[in-house]
Amino acid sequence: MLPKGLVTALNNQMTYEFEAAHSYMAMASYFSAHGYRGFANFYIVQAEEERSHAMKFYHFLVSMGERPHFQTLKAPNNMHESPLHIAKQSLEQEQAVTRSIYSIMDLAIEHKEHATIQFLHWFIDEQVEEEELFRDIIQKLSGVSVGGDFFMTMDRELAERK
Ligand SMILES: [Fe+2]
Ligand SMILES: [Fe+2]
Repeated sequence: MLPKGLVTALNNQMTYEFEAAHSYMAMASYFSAHGYRGFANFYIVQAEEERSHAMKFYHFLVSMGERPHFQTLKAPNNMHESPLHIAKQSLEQEQAVTRSIYSIMDLAIEHKEHATIQFLHWFIDEQVEEEELFRDIIQKLSGVSVGGDFFMTMDRELAERK
């Protein structure tokens, strides 16, 4: 049996991952509305990944004999200013998730809950990749004119993400 505080933290993290998916879909819609299909595709795929993260928490809770509880999702920001602004917001969102994963890890270590520690290692590695991904996009988008040649090349490249 998992300590109660840890169950709550894992359940909350499942919710955050669903919220991240929700937020990335709101970002995708900005690009869809502007006709940038590659960027929209990138964010739709990103949202699907976040949903798969949420499901990892779901299945872990079930495996540990706990029942996942579903909560109201926070409404995402639907008022985006620009592609660069979206990329910066994405990085901030990922950094917040990283902090959250770290705090659950701290709790798991405190309780010597080895199964949870083992489970969370995958997320620690994943967050390194996620932050790198958005730092890279921010760097590419900085100083680039939206709709310009380089931007449209990026849009074509991002259309390939599956
Ligand atoms: Fe995630
Ligand atoms: Fe993520």
